[in-house]
Amino acid sequence: MDFLVLPSDLKGGTVTVPGDKSISHRALLLGAVADGQTVVEGFLAGDDCLATLASLNALGVFISRDDDATTVRIDGVGLNGLSKPDKALNLGNSGTGMRLLTGLLCGQDFDCTLTGDASLSSRPMHRIIEPLSQMGASLDSDDGNPPLFVHGGRALKGIHYTLPVASAQVKSAILLAGLYAKGETVVIERTVTRDHTERMLRAMGARVSGDTGHIRLQATGRLEATSIQVPADLSSAAFMILAALIAKDAEVLISNVGVNPTRTGVIEVLREMGGDISIENPQLFGEEPVADIRVKSSVLHGISVDPSLVSLAIDEFPVLFVAAANAVGSTRFSGIGELRVKESDRISAMATGLRQMGIKIDESEDAAEIHYGEPSGAIIDSFGDHRVAMSFAVAATIADSAVRVRNIDAVDTSFPGFSDVMRSLGVSISKEHPRQR
Ligand code: S3P
Repeated sequence: MDFLVLPSDLKGGTVTVPGDKSISHRALLLGAVADGQTVVEGFLAGDDCLATLASLNALGVFISRDDDATTVRIDGVGLNGLSKPDKALNLGNSGTGMRLLTGLLCGQDFDCTLTGDASLSSRPMHRIIEPLSQMGASLDSDDGNPPLFVHGGRALKGIHYTLPVASAQVKSAILLAGLYAKGETVVIERTVTRDHTERMLRAMGARVSGDTGHIRLQATGRLEATSIQVPADLSSAAFMILAALIAKDAEVLISNVGVNPTRTGVIEVLREMGGDISIENPQLFGEEPVADIRVKSSVLHGISVDPSLVSLAIDEFPVLFVAAANAVGSTRFSGIGELRVKESDRISAMATGLRQMGIKIDESEDAAEIHYGEPSGAIIDSFGDHRVAMSFAVAATIADSAVRVRNIDAVDTSFPGFSDVMRSLGVSISKEHPRQR
């Protein structure tokens, strides 16, 4: 499908966005191997999490969903209760699903194969193969990309591992394998990444200690089922934040959004660019900080973004590229090379689309400089990347004529209902079959 977006005057309002993808994945995976029933509210029923859910079903875990689809009950089978699936597990588009599930599978006593779609099949897996092998796991791939073959029945031992890339997925895969390891597992991060795994493990009774950036886990042989309320995903809220900021005159409130400090880099960067963003009604959903986010249209100005914020805003760079194109002067991002191995090469995808809208960008292997410009109408390829597609749909609201964003089906991986929320804010957005072009 394509999005067809017409220039639109955003009107104010209160919106909600779906549940956090990272937390929903972890709730499924940890709930599956806990003892007892884990009840999850606010679950993200997007394609990525549903692929993880289907894989857990294939591993013998019973998971029921209420009619609202966002309440999920997982009948945990215990750490050693998963059973050998009949065929390869297909994780679709989801790097989180594949990397975290592999951590759990290394501790099982059966062999298993994990596959994914074309995008996932080109993403690097060596980053998990290396530390998990050091732990004694046996897993391989033909060329460092999926499919992954995990050979079970290996005794795992704890390792001390310094992450060579800032990646919460790698950290989490090691910690999940650490649940099966003899001895302590220690993960050291030079740059802090999202810590949802550590928080949820603690809530389920695991022995996780250490300071930020230095995580220690000692296996105790069991996790306890718990209730999990999933906050709205800040990575999805970021599109509404951007839409409100670049609108002529709008005020938008997004409710109950996760504001875990390992995720809020996007707010820091946009505020530094002059964005009027306030955090209201702070509260806790279990271990996770949550708040309402109020955004008012603002004149943005270019900045040089501190590279230490990159891992705290890693999924929001497509949004930040669009913000930068609307910021007076120029904006420089550096240390962003990881964006090249996301669902698409996001530096290239964003640069290509923005240039088609008339924006000037200089790009290098791990940096980009974006210059202010007035976006024009264009036909843009999302490269099958959900966040690229949504970022251009938002950029389109202030273009001088219609924008068509091609290849948008992947939006449902993280933000089912995106176009409905945009329409509720007054945006003229429709989905069309490509043949109508
Ligand atoms: C995620 C971690 C990040 C992020 C991804 C979700 C997670 O990936 O980009 O969307 O849930 O742990 P990396 O760990 O590869 O940076």
